[in-house]
Amino acid sequence: MTFTGHTILITGGTSGIGLGFAKKFSELGNKVIITARNEKRLNQILNENLTFTGFVSDVADKDSLPQLVNFIKENFPQLDVIMNCAGIMRAINLFEQADNSLKVLTEEIHINLLGTIAVTQAFLKILVANNGLVINVSSGLSNLADGAHPIYNLTKAGVHFYSDALREQAKYFEKTLKVIELVPPLVTETNLESHTNTDAPNNMALSDLISETLAGLENGLDRIDAGFAKQLHQMGKVNSDENTKLLSQQMLSNYFPKMKD
Ligand SMILES: NC(=O)c1ccc[n+]([C@@H]2O[C@H](COP(=O)([O-])OP(=O)(O)OC[C@H]3O[C@@H](n4cnc5c(N)ncnc54)[C@H](OP(=O)(O)O)[C@@H]3O)[C@@H](O)[C@H]2O)c1
Repeated sequence: MTFTGHTILITGGTSGIGLGFAKKFSELGNKVIITARNEKRLNQILNENLTFTGFVSDVADKDSLPQLVNFIKENFPQLDVIMNCAGIMRAINLFEQADNSLKVLTEEIHINLLGTIAVTQAFLKILVANNGLVINVSSGLSNLADGAHPIYNLTKAGVHFYSDALREQAKYFEKTLKVIELVPPLVTETNLESHTNTDAPNNMALSDLISETLAGLENGLDRIDAGFAKQLHQMGKVNSDENTKLLSQQMLSNYFPKMKD
């Protein structure tokens, strides 16, 4: 069964994974609405993709969320899918106090975690009324701390637990809502990972991520661990303490190499 005929809101739809899915979903015959903060970039994407609708919106700005909800209610009352894709990732040296104001340290929490929760809750009634679907984008790095991204890891673990709880509540309270967690591995065809070489180990092509996700949607999976995210899932379950140490040593030396004598 092809994923078609839906009306899909994608937060963070102007770049990387969100933009890749926006293009694919549109190609498959879905109505696609994308959001992002940067208006200039959004307009550029809308000019290049005439089937898309766009709306400037910051998932971390609680005051602007009602405007997005009103826009959707007025123009797309048939909305039945949201994909929470907006996200940022920071490598942080927790000991560099000068760069680490609380504002900087909590930005990923506001965008990745609270943003996902706020957007989902704001559209829950509409989605349930339309037999809807939530796709929350977490990360392979939700499974264990990698050392270099201390706040990112916890935001994505939070997205995982929120998604599980929402899915279980939907079943318990007999709501017509499906909740899917999409767990991507490293995808370098993105702004978020533009600093990483495409030949990095375990990198997944964006087109492969999309194909694997569409197969997962067709097979009715609740959680789609794409590519290397399957191994990261296992690493977080079996010998997780040991794997945390190994992964952290590797990632910390990649991101914060020590000066050699
Ligand atoms: N790339 C990877 O290796 C990888 C792996 C696992 C999971 N993920 C997850 O996949 C999702 C997409 O990431 P990506 O790699 O495609 O990154 P990307 O290329 O940097 O795209 C991020 C998108 O999110 C938007 N965005 C950022 N902050 C926002 C905010 N506060 N409100 C609304 N939109 C916002 C950006 O536009 P503006 O800046 O204009 O707002 C952009 O459209 C993220 O949740 C990320 O954590 C990525």
